[in-house]
Amino acid sequence: MKKKITLIGAGNIGGTLAHLTLLKKLGDIVLIDVMKGMPQGKALDLSQSAAVEGFPCNVEGTNDFSKMKNSDVVIITAGLPRQPGMSRDDLLETNGKIIKKIGLDIKKYCPKAFVICITNPLDAMVYVLQKYSKLPVEKCVGMAGVLDSSRLKYFLSVELNVSINDIQTFVLGGHGDDMVPMVNYTTIGGISLLDFIKKKKIPISKINKIFDRTRMGGGEIVRLLQRGSAFYAPASSAIQMAEAYLLDQKKLLPCAAFIKNKYGLKSMYMGMPVIIGSKGVEEIIEVSLSSSEKNMLKKSIKSVQGLVSAVDKILK
Ligand code: NAI
Ligand code: 2OP
Repeated sequence: MKKKITLIGAGNIGGTLAHLTLLKKLGDIVLIDVMKGMPQGKALDLSQSAAVEGFPCNVEGTNDFSKMKNSDVVIITAGLPRQPGMSRDDLLETNGKIIKKIGLDIKKYCPKAFVICITNPLDAMVYVLQKYSKLPVEKCVGMAGVLDSSRLKYFLSVELNVSINDIQTFVLGGHGDDMVPMVNYTTIGGISLLDFIKKKKIPISKINKIFDRTRMGGGEIVRLLQRGSAFYAPASSAIQMAEAYLLDQKKLLPCAAFIKNKYGLKSMYMGMPVIIGSKGVEEIIEVSLSSSEKNMLKKSIKSVQGLVSAVDKILK
């Protein structure tokens, strides 16, 4: 039986998600947006590519949120993106109200779905989504770590002049300027990045610059585009998470997941390495951190906690 994938928000990321979902033949799509005509137009355009691409899936565009009923997967990009000069946190109030309403809709129409939030500020929005949808925490995750890690892999591959496919690394913490790139867990073809530094293949100053560029990776694209924010890499990253769930891949991916009694956290959403399979988040992997990584993570946790209390006050 074909899977049903609902994409809420049919803008830049939503449209790209729909295209990738069809090309990968993951299932039938419902594309929902508040803008009249736009999701219907994108759905018609995508449907007209079926003869060329040969995908066997349907796509329906709608403004009717009840069409998400019984979805297997929901991916949310509804809300405003960043404009030049705006931080992710400036979006808190507007997007918080939108995500609360979508959370209530998910509770009503598809409480069994695996739901991925992309809307910013990511860590606070995935918290709001779970709070109002009442989804089991393992079925409600946020996408950011896959994107941030993918940016880091790209910058390293260019600097080291090696294939991006040989680079393994990940980024912990919130999707903000104080995310934590993990130097000790970065390998190139299985060889630690620390060996490359020791053998003077790359100076530590360059690595630090790459880490900073990764932290600011979203803002760099916002400035270049001048309208809106990145959408190709964010869409690919969320599709990797959806695929891991739909195909029970047991993939180890950095995601904003509900962390309980790990990494010194009592209970909160935070970007950590997790295994995604057919049960959703099946395991949270705890890695040991250096004291400077612990300090950076503490800062990132504090920022997310600040956003969560602020959004709670707004939505009360
Ligand atoms: P976009 O502006 O192209 O699309 C957003 C869509 O949401 C628009 O079509 C708008 O009409 C729709 N929308 C607004 N209110 C809605 C509602 N109540 N219900 C349904 N749809 C609604 O923006 P884009 O580029 O697709 O980005 C979407 C979000 O993803 C933004 O919040 C952005 O900051 C965030 N983002 C997050 C990333 C991450 O790593 N987590 C990376 C890149 C972007
Ligand atoms: C990004 O990282 C703006 O959060 C968005 O591209």
